[in-house]
Amino acid sequence: MLTADECVFKNIHVLDFDYQPKLIRYRENHQFAIANCIKPLFKNQKGENVLVYGSSGIGKTLACKNIIKELEEETDSITPIYVNCWQHNTTYKIALYICEQLNYPFTNNKKGVELFKEIADRINKSSAVFVFDEIDKAEDLDFLYTITEHILRYSIILITNHKGKLLSSIDNRIRSRLFLECVEFKKYNLEETRGILKERVDHAFCKGCFENDSFAFAVDQTYDRGDIRSGLLILLKAGKYADNLSSKYVKLDHVKKILDKIDKYAIKGSSDLDEPTRNILDLVKKKNGETIPALFKAYQEVNGDLGYRSFYRRIKALELNKYIAVTKVFGGKKGNTSKVEYLSL
Ligand SMILES: Nc1ncnc2c1ncn2[C@@H]1O[C@H](COP(=O)(O)OP(=O)(O)OP(=O)(O)O)[C@@H](O)[C@H]1O
Ligand SMILES: [Mg+2]
Repeated sequence: MLTADECVFKNIHVLDFDYQPKLIRYRENHQFAIANCIKPLFKNQKGENVLVYGSSGIGKTLACKNIIKELEEETDSITPIYVNCWQHNTTYKIALYICEQLNYPFTNNKKGVELFKEIADRINKSSAVFVFDEIDKAEDLDFLYTITEHILRYSIILITNHKGKLLSSIDNRIRSRLFLECVEFKKYNLEETRGILKERVDHAFCKGCFENDSFAFAVDQTYDRGDIRSGLLILLKAGKYADNLSSKYVKLDHVKKILDKIDKYAIKGSSDLDEPTRNILDLVKKKNGETIPALFKAYQEVNGDLGYRSFYRRIKALELNKYIAVTKVFGGKKGNTSKVEYLSL
């Protein structure tokens, strides 16, 4: 039996989805383009606004968080603010969250707009960079207008997977004020995918433990999926599989064995899906574009045993983890309802 310190991993945390690698390769130009939009703030002028877009798991959040980190290290005169809009999905919640970041405690009994005035009072002494990640998850976009109204010098960075859908959901009035520069993130090519995963393997595994042919296969599989997160998951699960067999090496066969699991379970989110949720996801795949009540009816017809509330909760969890998109449909035959669409990788 292997003891705790005899395993294939040297530092397993390097494979966490939110681990910030020191080196972010292949995104230098993107970061440069975004940084350029922020530059005027250093001269006390108005910054430009950016829409960062591209598919899942290709370094958008990583690159923008790195810019925030560099700003924090470089200057005190620009306040960087990062908001994930599925965690804070209304103008009010976003205002509260920003107040918290600015250490402003008197938020009780104040409306969103009032809070933004307090935020402006603090930021207008200098300037700010706002990053709104997962912007398509925000239920309203009033906060964008409010920022353009009350803050004097700012850059806004919006991050999304769905450029067209987002742009069409932004009111003309806000869009013309923002005048967004677009920065597209494309999927990594095979060479780049290899470079990124090599870096992680070297830091996460003991020297020589991840065999060359296993690694080459993991790279190919990641490239096919076009998502670095799935690559990190392949490395992690294959390593754990090897450990469970008390093998000193991660072999090709180990990587092949865990692939099934990778495709069945969460690639986009960090937590694995449980079985009832997986069944609901399969149903959405089959009945793409249906409303939530119609899906629930279909779910009952195949003997699904969850009540409506539990079913609805799982739909919301799938939405949060970006397996599905839920869009509101107003004034249909049956009143306001929501349409559910499967999001392929
Ligand atoms: N160039 C890179 N170097 C090192 N790691 C990378 C690189 N690009 C992406 N990653 C890693 O891949 C994972 C996914 O990246 P990230 O979270 O930035 O994706 P994203 O484009 O924001 O995806 P989503 O649209 O799903 O939010 C992260 O764990 C990140 O650290
Ligand atoms: Mg992201």
